[in-house]
Amino acid sequence: MRVAVVQTNPAFGDVERNVKGAIALIESANADLYVLPELFNTGYNFVDAQEVKKLAEPADGYSFNRLSPVARKKNCTIVYGFAEQADRLYNSAALIGPDGLCGVYRKVHLYYRENLFFAPGNLGFPVFDLPFGRVGIMICFDWIYPESARTLALAGAEIILHPSNLVLPHCPDAMVTRCLENRVYAATANRIGRENRGGIDLSYIGKSEIVSPRGEILTRLSADETGVGVVDIDLTEARNKHLNEYNDVLAGRRTEYYRLA
Ligand code: ACM
Repeated sequence: MRVAVVQTNPAFGDVERNVKGAIALIESANADLYVLPELFNTGYNFVDAQEVKKLAEPADGYSFNRLSPVARKKNCTIVYGFAEQADRLYNSAALIGPDGLCGVYRKVHLYYRENLFFAPGNLGFPVFDLPFGRVGIMICFDWIYPESARTLALAGAEIILHPSNLVLPHCPDAMVTRCLENRVYAATANRIGRENRGGIDLSYIGKSEIVSPRGEILTRLSADETGVGVVDIDLTEARNKHLNEYNDVLAGRRTEYYRLA
């Protein structure tokens, strides 16, 4: 199967433009699965909760209605980050396929000022069975908690779809470890550009990437250009957790010695 990470540079608040731009990038490449950045349609650096409220959508809102026909026409799956208007406001990712909405993930670990605007995710780390394999979703800062990727791997995720708006420099390299320690693929889609709003100046690091269960960086985009990284992968590689005939990275855990809470 073929996976694509889509690296964008959204204009804050211009949802129509941002969705249009993302669709153009999707249509410039052929893949079975596309990963878009976190909050790809709105931008990231909100000044206050009122702004989030104004730009948030339900899971079946404007962006879904624009991307859904693309997924149908291209017979593909798309995951994208958006501000979700539900019972509360969530920093969410929607997974859509040719037949519509497959599911939603709500970011569990909120980063920095997101804590002022969003409610922490309340759906856990769900995995989804798709025709090509089992996928899990986490969003951006979830990477810093190894428990996120581990939980997805233990639930059988073969690839972690990772919409992001990275500002710290560490994640692209850290995902190599996340993949190695869980023997899973990961597709991190990040944005580029800068948002200086309300006295908070954020620059996004790009470097969207796809990493293999062996920790190989199969593609990594630049720090400052939009684009699409496309890779052919074999998800069966992620079903084999053996490093060698003695070590299975999941079965070999000594859970009796771990203190996780
Ligand atoms: C982040 O979680 N957007 C850094």
